[in-house]
Amino acid sequence: MKHDLNQKNFQHIVILTGAGISAESGIKTFRDHNGLWENHRIEDVASPEGFERDPSMVYNFYNKRREQLLSPDLKPNFGHLALAKLEKNFHGKTTLVTQNVDNLHESAGQQNIIHMHGELLKMRCLTTNEVFTTEQSFDGQTLCACCQRPNQLRPHIVWFGEVPFSMDRIQLELSNCDLFFSIGTSGQVYPAAMFGQIAKQNGALTVEINKDPTENSPFFDKSIIGKAGEILPPFVDNFLNS
Ligand code: OAD
Repeated sequence: MKHDLNQKNFQHIVILTGAGISAESGIKTFRDHNGLWENHRIEDVASPEGFERDPSMVYNFYNKRREQLLSPDLKPNFGHLALAKLEKNFHGKTTLVTQNVDNLHESAGQQNIIHMHGELLKMRCLTTNEVFTTEQSFDGQTLCACCQRPNQLRPHIVWFGEVPFSMDRIQLELSNCDLFFSIGTSGQVYPAAMFGQIAKQNGALTVEINKDPTENSPFFDKSIIGKAGEILPPFVDNFLNS
């Protein structure tokens, strides 16, 4: 019964997304061939030590990614749109936890989103931890709005060795959900890689949708191989009509 993907069997869906959901919009994933990490050493652009060593390189890396995000050509794809439709029309609650730092779920109309790895359109003061929204490039010369000093702002991105945001809330949602989707993530980065197993231990039905099988595929109740933008629209329609 629990394994029937009929919406009436479920009250609370948690959806975990990764870089694969945004791939069909033209944003590079991290670990695929020609992915973001191929041209950069992770420790250079995604660690507090890398930022300390060469802040300019780090500012540059995120400024370029922010610019790409704001380009008029960049749009949510059918996968993002299907998930927003699911949230709007599902009779219960939907919580979307994304590892992505882009804003394509928001652009698609998704409402209840947790950005566990931060957001490209935000920066944070190193002294006060105040978070500011920005569409502009910034660097060490940019004066911080709260302390009016240079060398205070950093990208509001979770780097390796740092704790992801909203972990208490995510734990709570994982323990309350009865259906869990993992979409477009390789499951190589913890703690997100554990979420499927946590949800399953708490009694949820777990479903993976990914272009390629992952190391976690055997642990999901269902694993669907294919592109999110192709799989999700009919999948969501069937679910909502069930
Ligand atoms: P990865 O690049 O590790 O994995 C992306 C996954 O998406 C791969 O398994 C691909 O097969 C799959 N994929 C690619 N195109 C797809 C498509 N059209 N539809 C469905 N799946 C597709 O990216 P993440 O798992 O998101 O963290 O990486 C997790 C974290 O590692 C990122 O949030 C980032 C990185 O270090 C931080 O920056 C803190």
